[in-house]
Amino acid sequence: MQVWTVANQKGGVGKTTTSVTLAGIAAEQGKRVLLIDLDPQGSLTCYFGGDPDHVPISVFTLFQDKSVVCLESIMQLLLPTGFDNVTLLPASTALATLERLAVGKGGLGLVISHTVRQVRDEFDLVIIDSPPVLGVLLINALAACDRLIIPVQTEHLALKGLDRMLHTLRMLDQSQQRALRYVIVPTMFDRRTQASIVSLRKIRHQHGMDTWPSKIPIDTRLRDASLAGVPPNIYDAKSNGLVAYNSLYNWLLEDQKQETSSSWGKFHRPSSTQVAR
Ligand SMILES: Nc1ncnc2c1ncn2[C@@H]1O[C@H](COP(=O)(O)OP(=O)(O)O)[C@@H](O)[C@H]1O
Ligand SMILES: [Mg+2]
Repeated sequence: MQVWTVANQKGGVGKTTTSVTLAGIAAEQGKRVLLIDLDPQGSLTCYFGGDPDHVPISVFTLFQDKSVVCLESIMQLLLPTGFDNVTLLPASTALATLERLAVGKGGLGLVISHTVRQVRDEFDLVIIDSPPVLGVLLINALAACDRLIIPVQTEHLALKGLDRMLHTLRMLDQSQQRALRYVIVPTMFDRRTQASIVSLRKIRHQHGMDTWPSKIPIDTRLRDASLAGVPPNIYDAKSNGLVAYNSLYNWLLEDQKQETSSSWGKFHRPSSTQVAR
């Protein structure tokens, strides 16, 4: 089982869209996918018709009572999404109170790590959608994953959010004594605007080695799919956005294969020629 976290300390950059779309693509290929919504705003939960204000049980339960972090209890928290192979561990707005709850209660940083370990035989891929603020939830999302996907919107202030995210990552790497493998994914690229072109160039110039060699275009079909509550691969498999997400998914799998076959600590990446531009 693989665990991918989608994170950026900036809102509106495409985290939830990336989570749902990669989940849909993986599910279509027969992978059993678990989506975990760690954002108190619950956008991912809303995507599938849930109401984070009123969900009776959610991922919050696991933080309230760590003794329920066992397979049987976790399975009771999961919701079907109505789409084959995609299961959801929903968020509730109560997650917003977690920082207060965490004060004086040690060990809340690894709740999700323990959770995904429990379900390792039930799923092939876990994708964690995370909140845009640094706190217990984001720390959990980062600690639990094998790979971090950082969507960065190709717009003027994008690099500020990215710098903040990379700073957090360095701090976490030091405390955990490991280098979390991450990839920056340029999103919402609009080739008609200078702002998009310039910021994509900047991202590649400053972080070329760590950036997926292609980009996700701006595509209203992704927004329409979200409105309809349907994973984009089912909503419109031929849209430009989906074609790009498909190539991102294939790139991630290829990268993972190379990582497994390379020696520890080496960062090999598939060449950009394998990616549809
Ligand atoms: N590539 C894209 N093209 C057009 N709209 C997009 C794209 N990616 C995301 N969106 C839309 O932008 C908004 C913010 O995206 P979202 O995935 O919710 O960001 P985040 O989770 O980072 O806050 C949503 O309305 C979403 O439908
Ligand atoms: Mg979101």
